[in-house]
Amino acid sequence: MVAASVGDSAESSTWQDFQRNLEPKIATSERVALASRFAPVTTERLSLGRAVGGAERNEPLHNAISYKEAFSPRLVREVLDHLGISRGRLVDPFVGVGTSLLVAAERGLEGVGLDLLPYAAFTAHTLLHAPDADWGTVDAYLGNIERAPRLEVGSFPDFPVRTWAFGPAALAELTRIRRAICSLPDGLERDVVHLALLSIVEQSSQATKDGTSLRQRPAASGRNGRFKAITTRKTVTATFNARVALLREGATSATPPIVGSRAVVGDARSVSTLLAGELFDIAIFSPPYPNRYDYSANYQLELGFGFIDRDTDLKALRKRLLRSHLEAPWPLARTVSSAALDEFLSALLHEKQTGDQTGRVFRMAAGYFEDMALVLQELATVLAPGGAAAIVVGTQVFAGQSLPTDLILADLAERAGYAVKDIWLARSKGVAVQQRARFGDVPGSRESVILLER
Ligand SMILES: C[S@@+](CC[C@H](N)C(=O)[O-])C[C@H]1O[C@@H](n2cnc3c(N)ncnc32)[C@H](O)[C@@H]1O
Repeated sequence: MVAASVGDSAESSTWQDFQRNLEPKIATSERVALASRFAPVTTERLSLGRAVGGAERNEPLHNAISYKEAFSPRLVREVLDHLGISRGRLVDPFVGVGTSLLVAAERGLEGVGLDLLPYAAFTAHTLLHAPDADWGTVDAYLGNIERAPRLEVGSFPDFPVRTWAFGPAALAELTRIRRAICSLPDGLERDVVHLALLSIVEQSSQATKDGTSLRQRPAASGRNGRFKAITTRKTVTATFNARVALLREGATSATPPIVGSRAVVGDARSVSTLLAGELFDIAIFSPPYPNRYDYSANYQLELGFGFIDRDTDLKALRKRLLRSHLEAPWPLARTVSSAALDEFLSALLHEKQTGDQTGRVFRMAAGYFEDMALVLQELATVLAPGGAAAIVVGTQVFAGQSLPTDLILADLAERAGYAVKDIWLARSKGVAVQQRARFGDVPGSRESVILLER
């Protein structure tokens, strides 16, 4: 699929050429002008601050899975209420663990989601359908799992974390449960127990998702990751059983989804093909932010328990994800030309120091907006005329230079034919301590909700 040019004129054919010809220069006028252009539709909605992140996920079903990048169900409800949408179809092209789909089900909307990470699509689909599970069958499966023979040694794919992520007893027990699940008949009830296992894998490991990567949890004292490690066979099994109980509690109080609701593995840049012939009244989603975060690296523990068996496949997935991380390849061509983005990139080059990451940040930012321009165009093909989109996204600061991701996306959306109705500033944050130390008092970052009309 080829993106139509969304810029006035992208005079270089590749981003590499553009980078070579770009003058390193510090300026801010284009970014200031962009902020002024959208000022009339921008309002502070700091009451949404906790909801754009995961701080309010302590509700049935949502609380069964920890997904650091998820938003909270209240955000989805507030958007639907604001727009007065009470029926129809919702799409989320970056569905994650399915927060938007669960709210769609609760409100009687049909919900369809895509995610390129098979672990995320599986989780969203299973949580969504958990209210339809037969819990008698789940109980019987738990009995099978309990009776499965003890394993002396566990196994895990040849991913980089293999050497340090698991203690031997925890890995052996996780593997035993996994093998017992593999021998169960296909179906929703097996998926529910598989999901319970996936939800405890990180907790049973010596790794923790920390910043942009998976790190070894410091031993005993000090910062102990988000969870206390569980290391014995007994605690792994007890935690697994408790997670099945939590899922059951959530599922029995939740509304089953409307027929047709689903989450599948798919690329948000291919929506027009994957969802051909379907029309939606609203899209509510949060794409990856261009913040160097690599989902394939951070979720490799979960991916290794049922989705990906070889490191080469993990690497291939990394290359296919949206270009929001430093391993992302250059986009094929330069079709997006945004004065504010170019100004940021030129300032980034000016701040470059030998051996630092700015070259790769440049490539990531260029690729990110190419990808997101395509996502916006693709999404337009499945939104009904007059349909709405709500995009939750954060801004970033690199080498002291602010990247106004929300405003650049709003600009790209206008060029793709949407009207920008509102930009809600939901949260603002300071900058990383290292950035402050090196660059002094630089602008902080924020999270916004961009409301569009097709
Ligand atoms: C910010 S998270 C979304 C979280 C979601 N709103 C929730 O509440 O769980 C972004 C998601 O985009 C997914 N992703 C990355 N590249 C993608 C692509 N090209 N197409 C579809 N999904 C992608 C990631 O795997 C991740 O789950």
